[in-house]
Amino acid sequence: MENDNGVCNMMIMLELNHCMPSPALSPASPCREMFVTLSISFLVLGGAIGLDNGLGKTPPMGWNSWNHFNCTITEKIVRATVTAIIEKGLDKHGYKYVNLDNCWAASSRASDGTIQPNPTTFPDMKGLIDFVHSKGLKFGLYSDAGYYTCGKRQPGSLGYETKDANTYAEWEVDYLKYDNCETDGSKPEVRYPVMRDALNKTGRPIFYSLCETGKDNVSLWGPKVGNSWRTTRDIGDYWDKMISRADVNADLWPYAGPGGWNDPDMLEVGNGNMTFEEYKTHFSLWCLMKAPLLIGCDITKMSDDTFKILTNDHVIAVNQDPLGIQGNRTKQDGTNEIWQVPMKDGTRVALAFNRGDSASDITIQWTDIGFPNSASVNVYDLWDDKKMIGKFTGSVTAKAIPSHGVAMYQVEPVST
Ligand code: GLA
Repeated sequence: MENDNGVCNMMIMLELNHCMPSPALSPASPCREMFVTLSISFLVLGGAIGLDNGLGKTPPMGWNSWNHFNCTITEKIVRATVTAIIEKGLDKHGYKYVNLDNCWAASSRASDGTIQPNPTTFPDMKGLIDFVHSKGLKFGLYSDAGYYTCGKRQPGSLGYETKDANTYAEWEVDYLKYDNCETDGSKPEVRYPVMRDALNKTGRPIFYSLCETGKDNVSLWGPKVGNSWRTTRDIGDYWDKMISRADVNADLWPYAGPGGWNDPDMLEVGNGNMTFEEYKTHFSLWCLMKAPLLIGCDITKMSDDTFKILTNDHVIAVNQDPLGIQGNRTKQDGTNEIWQVPMKDGTRVALAFNRGDSASDITIQWTDIGFPNSASVNVYDLWDDKKMIGKFTGSVTAKAIPSHGVAMYQVEPVST
């Protein structure tokens, strides 16, 4: 299913390597503009940057069991989660995938080698998948490009790629997260395409999520293999861990695009160890970086604050924008930062981010976000229901951004 476009896009990405941005690169630089122009041309031509199996034209949205439930996940919990997704209307905001992570399978395969669900915790896997589909949602599973999954919790798919892909297709699985533990020591770029080809051969479109935690410059080869690729080690529900994952992922922005996304790991919003402002920042950065939005908390017990963050449609629209460009950081001044992303409608979204320990004013100059200083623009506050905060020329100052907080503005040029 790889096509000429995929290969061609890859070559352009590689040629652009010499333009890889330093964090301070202005989006208005020649390299940036060339990249944006090329991306737009390929979108117009209908090309996809990632594996062209028709999936992931925008980053996937859904829920994954790992960050909250780890190995305590059961069919009962997943059914309750599905019910909560529907009752709370999360699907209406775009959250469609219900993904099981590690620990869903029995510790050994059936006598004919077929992978089998854990009979105690997942007594009726096909019934569960049918239930998910009956609610208009999609279903994902987890496996590993090694002999076992991480922690040796269940058999991996190395050597069983075709058998497992066929089983998943038969069960009507829609998404596969593929980890990189307990391997034979060969490079991931050798093992991951084997499962890609096996999935493609089933004829069922299955979103292919590479989880080899950023090894061997995965952003260079990932687009030809998967619909997303982890760029980082595991996230945790702590500010330092979350923000360090964002920092690693940020510089890889040229490699993401429709069909294939950099993945800085799943969301921790709502798991309890960060403040409301920190979770807002986490979500804003993931949306601006076009990261997969996989909720990682217990949806059945979601607080109002968590719901408010995860269902901000204005911020989600940045993530799901069809232009599909990953935003980048264009300015660092001590602990004050500016990030930006161009949108398909010609607007840009600016993120003023205060990494410091006390509140700070941050001024966004138009040149920080790719507009000339002479431009007159309308500015809308995405965390305040996209209210227009005024018409400005040259810059706008976000006042008293709290510690570890952000202001996220959509900036629309207007003719004077
Ligand atoms: C790895 C992955 C995590 C999760 C666990 C499960 O650490 O990076 O996202 O899937 O394995 O064991």
